[in-house]
Amino acid sequence: MSDAPKRALVTGGAGLIGSHIVDRLVREGWQVRILDNLEPQTHKNGRPAWINPEAEFRCGIVQDYETMRSALTDIDVVFHEAAYGGYMPEMAKYVLVNSFGTAQMLEIIRDHKLPVQKVVVASSQAVYSEGAAHCEIDGHVTPLLRPAEQLRAGDFQVHCPRCGRPTTSIPTPEGTPGGGETVYALTKVDQERLVLLWGKQTGIPTVALRYSCTYGPRQSLFNPYTGVIAIFCTRLLNRQPPVIYEDGGQTRDLCFVEDIAQANLLVATTDKLDGLPVNVGSGRPTSVRELAGIIAKQLGIAIDPIARGEFRPGEIRSLISDISRIRTIGYEPSVPLEEGIGRYIDWIKTQGAVEDYFAKAEAGLREKGIVQNIAK
Ligand SMILES: NC(=O)c1ccc[n+]([C@@H]2O[C@H](COP(=O)([O-])OP(=O)(O)OC[C@H]3O[C@@H](n4cnc5c(N)ncnc54)[C@H](O)[C@@H]3O)[C@@H](O)[C@H]2O)c1
Ligand SMILES: [Zn+2]
Repeated sequence: MSDAPKRALVTGGAGLIGSHIVDRLVREGWQVRILDNLEPQTHKNGRPAWINPEAEFRCGIVQDYETMRSALTDIDVVFHEAAYGGYMPEMAKYVLVNSFGTAQMLEIIRDHKLPVQKVVVASSQAVYSEGAAHCEIDGHVTPLLRPAEQLRAGDFQVHCPRCGRPTTSIPTPEGTPGGGETVYALTKVDQERLVLLWGKQTGIPTVALRYSCTYGPRQSLFNPYTGVIAIFCTRLLNRQPPVIYEDGGQTRDLCFVEDIAQANLLVATTDKLDGLPVNVGSGRPTSVRELAGIIAKQLGIAIDPIARGEFRPGEIRSLISDISRIRTIGYEPSVPLEEGIGRYIDWIKTQGAVEDYFAKAEAGLREKGIVQNIAK
């Protein structure tokens, strides 16, 4: 794309990542339209104050044909962030919002010959299975998901698919075979593949950004099913211990939301990564137990996390993004974890009383088998 595009549609532009993309676009002189239904799970108090006043805001669902057709009018670049996310018990809703919503959006652009010049879709590192790993005998391997029976027996290690020895985690490049081990992840695979495939068929440039675990100001404090940092903060602020699954040794690649927004702007304004899935993250591992410690320290609340002998089937043990590909267009994670958590906590302090929704959600998660017990 030679001329800088100027009109953007950001679906999910009221949410964590979308709203930061909107701010960045507005700052750089784009005209921005937001389509967001203010999903009650995420936006318990209705329309959030941070929606950029320079952007046009439309409240509606992405899976409604006419709403989407109208939102796509006179748009150069679509940043498709709206999605149903997290470890929620629903199945059909994920498929409807994420898979169907994306497929229909692409059909609308194609069938109405809309002059969209690029679609950037929010994918996720959840499209992988276990991350890449190193085995002392077999070298670079791609282990399979750990079977539920193994976790139930209290063995959390990732074993080599060839020799069965425990492996160590290494950064996962985009070429790693995919997985999709939860309903959410499956619909992220759908979204990414639909967009990239459609791009090849129509010749319209596309990029699928595989975000790692994203956090930062505006991350919903109401959703007990997603966002480990938000959940740990709300637990601690209510003087409750953060709950750790397995032994807390699982690692996450935690990325500050402004870095994710930066990545979106970069891929939208170059053609170098068109047609590709692209990892975005910090490239660094942090264990869940370590994370609980960092948050407790920053909040000044000395409560240790508890591990109650539970696990979540489908949970990935170690997934660190290899960010070499996006580095080739100038991306660099700029906010270290401690600083980012500090900024999130500063924001939480402006949000009034914070409730713990996790405790209420727990029984349902156990009942539906999303959280299970390790055998005694
Ligand atoms: N936060 C992460 O760690 C992470 C990691 C990987 C991928 N992603 C992806 O990034 C995108 C943005 O995630 P986020 O963290 O900003 O989540 P978020 O929940 O903060 O934002 C999503 C926004 O989409 C809106 N939305 C939900 N369903 C909608 C619908 N049917 N129609 C219109 N709007 C709808 C919500 O109201 C919300 O404002 C999602 O596609 C998500 O799957 C997020
Ligand atoms: Zn091996």
